[in-house]
Amino acid sequence: MANPSAFINPASGSIRLTGEVDFVDAEGNLIESIDAPKLCGCGLSKEKPRCDGSHKEYVKLFAEALRNARELVKPCISFAPMAKRAHAIRENELAYRIEAGETVVGVKVGGALDSPTSAEPTNVMIFGYLTDAMQLTDSIKTANYIYPRAEAEVAFKISKEVSTEIQPSEVLDYVSHVATAIEIFDYRYGQAQIYANDAIADNAGAAAFVYSHWVPAHEANLENLTAQVFKNEDEIDKAPLTAIRGNPWLALVLLSKVLVENGVKLPAGSIVLSGSATRSFELAAGNNYVVDIKGLGRVEIKAL
Ligand code: FES
Repeated sequence: MANPSAFINPASGSIRLTGEVDFVDAEGNLIESIDAPKLCGCGLSKEKPRCDGSHKEYVKLFAEALRNARELVKPCISFAPMAKRAHAIRENELAYRIEAGETVVGVKVGGALDSPTSAEPTNVMIFGYLTDAMQLTDSIKTANYIYPRAEAEVAFKISKEVSTEIQPSEVLDYVSHVATAIEIFDYRYGQAQIYANDAIADNAGAAAFVYSHWVPAHEANLENLTAQVFKNEDEIDKAPLTAIRGNPWLALVLLSKVLVENGVKLPAGSIVLSGSATRSFELAAGNNYVVDIKGLGRVEIKAL
């Protein structure tokens, strides 16, 4: 006779067991026997341990929880969704933003540890959508964010639709201009370590950004430049741009692979934020922050 088996539905999270299963109480007394029971793995069922179909509400509920967290400026709990749901939550959130009148202007590159259960956690590349409402001019109201932190990055202006994987030799075919950028991310969970699926669901923490004037891409020697971060004129961090995945251009190459895997096309005119050269820095009200990449540009933001 075959061993009993459990099938975990990757879309819903429900768990289908095979054969007749006895459900017992803490003393081992039989409560009921169910043939091939379907159990709840998402935690939303009102008839636990059985799955009652409530998983269909999962994406909507958690997208709402993230939105409420932003509106109330109060963290929500981490809910560690499965990968498929994490993507669906991010897309649900994007659809909501678009319906509210925002326009997607590009994407940011992010990174997160793959899983709390991995024996050897690896940092995986993720992305988040940028919208026009996230673009700042010269200041940011920190009270509107939960844990706002900033990073020194390179902004790329895409000149040709990205719909296939970009080869390293092709990057200049896809980028017309580059600039210095400050990216502000703001994860909406009340914990320090965010794992990949939570990070994906939260749109890679994308919250705000600002960039300097554009420089023609073929004039920028990104591999040889250094990013400096200043807080009220004091240098607080410094790193070569090669700290961005070995070479900032490579961030774009790797991003194209992630976008293709996710079925996302990046239209010409989009902005891409590369991921950080320096460590992230906290934005505290009353301070002025500058990222200066000599040979590329300088950008400044005042935290209110
Ligand atoms: S898996 Fe179906 S309700 Fe939880």
